[in-house]
Amino acid sequence: MVRASSAFTSTIDILRVLGGVLLANALLSWWFTGSSTWGYDGKWVDYRYLKHLAIESPVQLTLEELAKYNGDTPGLPIYVSINGTVYDVTKSARIYGPGGAYHVFSGKDSARAFVTGCYDKEDELTHDLRGLDPEEIEDQLGGWVRFFSKNSRYWVAGTVELPEPTGEIPSPCDHQRYPGHA
Ligand code: HEM
Ligand SMILES: *[C@@H]1O[C@H](CO)[C@@H](O)[C@H](O)[C@H]1NC(C)=O
Repeated sequence: MVRASSAFTSTIDILRVLGGVLLANALLSWWFTGSSTWGYDGKWVDYRYLKHLAIESPVQLTLEELAKYNGDTPGLPIYVSINGTVYDVTKSARIYGPGGAYHVFSGKDSARAFVTGCYDKEDELTHDLRGLDPEEIEDQLGGWVRFFSKNSRYWVAGTVELPEPTGEIPSPCDHQRYPGHA
């Protein structure tokens, strides 16, 4: 008797082999590195990013709504915005969550502080770029936008609506930079 191997069974076989290879890979990695992904901890092994890709549409927030995503509420993602683009930085809760070195950036659009470097000055934590040198804006903001958009741990969650800034321009501050920063 000749056994007819249908396209269906060969697909199952391929999936079985593939599954076995993936499992062996994860076990080997676990054995050698203590991580099932050879130490990779980027967004591609984050269930939340895969869910974002598969079913979520980009968020469209107001500044008031954005403020809720500053890491203070467990279970909510942590967002950092630059010039209207909102990044999901939840994977670095150690840095952007409560007590983190850069918690001040969370739940806000601090484009200005990213240009001037004065992130410890309250009134710099704003999207208001009035009065700043356009070339510096381009340089500094461009660098940080690259940092966040190319970062393997972060992804764009959506946008925040930025009202036209009014009132007084924040007072000048001493620029503080750290070599090696974007
Ligand atoms: C003045 C001295 C500064 C020092 C000593 C410093 C130090 C550091 C260190 C050590 C890290 C790595 C953090 C980690 O991975 O745990 C870091 C990252 C970072 N710094 Fe600074 N920094 C300084 C100034 C600034 C300024 C002026 C800004 C922006 C206004 C800034 C924004 C950031 C951001 C956004 C990160 C990336 C965190 C991430 O998402 O991985 N820093 N800094
Ligand atoms: C900031 O956002 C505005 C409006 O989307 C855009 O025209 C401008 O090029 C952005 N600036 C930088 C430096 O990315």
